[in-house]
Amino acid sequence: MSTPSLVSSYTANLPTLPHVAGTEPERCVLDSFRTAIAKLVSEALPSLTVEQVYTGVDYGKKGVDFTIALPRFRLPGKVDEHAKKVLEKFQPDDWIENVVHDKNFLHFTLRTPTLFRLILSQVHELSAKSEYGTNTSGKGKKVILEYSSPNIAKSFHVGHLRSTIIGAFLANLYKACGWEVVSLNYLGDWGTQFGLIAVGFEKYGSQEELEKDAIKHLFEVYVKVNADAEKDPNVKVEAAKFFKRMEDGDESALVNWRVWRELSVKKYEEEYARLNVQFDHYIGESMVGKEWQDKALERLSEMNLIDDHEGAKLVNLEKWKMGKAVLRKKDGTSIYLTRDIGGAIERYEKYKFDKMIYVVASQQDLHLSQFFKVLELMGFDWANRLEHVNYGLVLGMSTRKGTAVFLDQIIKEAASVMHEQMKKNEEKYKSVENPEEVSQEIGITGVKIQDMAAKRINNYTFNWDRMLSFEGDTGPYLQYAHVRLSSISRKNPELLPLPSPSQIDTSLLTEPSAREIAFLLGSYPDVVKTALKTHEPSGVVTFAFRLSHAISSAWETVVVKGEKDVEKARARMWLYLCARDVLGAALRLLSIKPLERM
Ligand code: ARG
Repeated sequence: MSTPSLVSSYTANLPTLPHVAGTEPERCVLDSFRTAIAKLVSEALPSLTVEQVYTGVDYGKKGVDFTIALPRFRLPGKVDEHAKKVLEKFQPDDWIENVVHDKNFLHFTLRTPTLFRLILSQVHELSAKSEYGTNTSGKGKKVILEYSSPNIAKSFHVGHLRSTIIGAFLANLYKACGWEVVSLNYLGDWGTQFGLIAVGFEKYGSQEELEKDAIKHLFEVYVKVNADAEKDPNVKVEAAKFFKRMEDGDESALVNWRVWRELSVKKYEEEYARLNVQFDHYIGESMVGKEWQDKALERLSEMNLIDDHEGAKLVNLEKWKMGKAVLRKKDGTSIYLTRDIGGAIERYEKYKFDKMIYVVASQQDLHLSQFFKVLELMGFDWANRLEHVNYGLVLGMSTRKGTAVFLDQIIKEAASVMHEQMKKNEEKYKSVENPEEVSQEIGITGVKIQDMAAKRINNYTFNWDRMLSFEGDTGPYLQYAHVRLSSISRKNPELLPLPSPSQIDTSLLTEPSAREIAFLLGSYPDVVKTALKTHEPSGVVTFAFRLSHAISSAWETVVVKGEKDVEKARARMWLYLCARDVLGAALRLLSIKPLERM
C-alpha cells in the first residue's frame, strides 16, 4: 500500500464527505469544501442531490468564499423558506464556519484553520512533483495541437507569434489536464511562392547567405523576385511552371527546395527554444499526399457541390453561407484549402485523435469553417472533433528601426529594450550575474503577457514601453513578484530548513491578507479547469496578477524578516513559499520561465 498523502492524513480527522463525480479532492482541495456545502444544502433540501447542489456552488464576491444562488434550483416554494431550512440545519464544523442568507443567496465562510492546513499541504505535496493545478480529466484522450505554422520564405508576422504563444499555452494546458498532446508545426512550405523563389534564387540567391540565416535570405529573395514579377508577367508564368514540376515530383526541381526547408526549420527551432516553445513534429503543406485531395474532389463532385470555372474546380458552399472556394487550379496544382482537407484526413488516420485544434488567426475564420464543412460533407464522423482556436490582430508591431518581419528581431528587441530598462537602476543592475540572459527572459515574458492578458479575439496594440515596464500589470511585474518570493529563503537562512508540514503551526496565520493568499492558492486548480473550457490564457494571467497583488499587499504586514516569534515566521515563510510555487506553476503553464533572481 502506498503511504497516505499529506492531505488525506489531515482530512482523516474531518467530518466525512460523500464523493461527487468529477471532483478530485486529492488535487483540488476546494472540491472538498464545495462538497461539504453541497452536502449540507441537500440535507436541508432533500429534493436536491449533493451533485445537483454541487454544480451551484460558485465563488463568492468580496470576502465571501462561496455562494449559492438559490433560484437556480427552481424549487417549488419561496426562496426565503429554503434558505431558512439551510440555516436551521447548519451546524458549524471543521469545513464550514458560517452561512449567511442574503436575498436570493446563501454565502458560506470556510473554516480558516482547515483552509490553511489543507491548501498549503496540498500545494506543498503536489508542487514537489510539479503537479499542483493538474487534473486527470483528459486521461486516455489524445489531442492534436497545430500552432505557429509560419510560411517559409515569407515573414514570420505577429499573427504567427500569437499562434505560437497561445498554442504553446494550450499544449501545456492539455498536458496539465491529463491529455496526451501531439504538437504540430504545419509549415507553409509548398505553393506557388516556391516557384517564385526558385526563379528568384537563380538571380539573387547566395549559398553563403542562405547558410548564415536561411529565413532572412529566402525572404530577401522573395521580396526581390516579387518586385520583378510586378514588372514582368513572365516571371509568374515561369514560377507557376516551376511549381508544377515540384508538384509532379520532378527531383531536379525539388533539390534546392529541400535545402531551403531544412535550413529554415533549423533556424526556427533555435528561435522557438528561446521562447520556451517546442513541437513534436515539424510537418508542412508539402507533406500532404495527393490521394485524399483527389478523393475529396471526387466525393464533392458526386454530391454536386463542385463548380467548374474555366478549368478550375470550386466547391460551392453557398448553401451554408460559406461562399465558393477553389479546390484545384486550372493547371491541376493543389492549393491551401485542399491541402488542409487532405491533411486533416491523414492526421486522423495516423493519430485517431479525440480532438484536433488549429490555432490560427481569425482572419482565416472562413477558410477554417470551409474545410471543416467539407470534411463533414464528406461524411467523416470525426469532423466535429476539429476546433479552431482563433485570435485577433496585433496592431503596430515594429522594432525601433522599422517594421519587424522576423521572429528573431522581436526577441532581440524585447531583450534590448529590457536591458536598457534594467540599466536605469545601476545598483541593482550590478548585482545581476547574467544581465543579458535575464533581460531576454523578462523581455519575452513581457511580450507573452501582453499577448495573453486579454481575450484572444481582441485586437491589441503592440507597445514596448508598456509591456516592459515594471509598473502596472505586466510580465516584468510578475517576474519581479516571483523573484521576491524566491528571495525569502535566501534572506532568512536561520529559519531553514522548514519543519515538515505537520509541524508547522498554521493557526499562527491570522491576518486576512494571509487567508486571501491561501484561498487564491486553493483556487488555482479551478483556474486551470476553466482555461481548458474556454481556451483562454487570460484567466491564468488574471490569476497570476491577483495572486501577485495579494502577496504585495501582505508583504508589509505579514512579515517574515523581523518577526520575533520563530514559529510564526516559519508559518508565514511556508505560505510565501507555497505562493511562489503556485505563481511559478501559473507562469510555466503560460510557457514562461519563472526567474529566481533579477
Ligand atoms: N501557414 C499559414 C499562414 O501563415 C497558417 C497555417 C494554419 N494552419 C492550417 N492548417 N491552415 O497563413
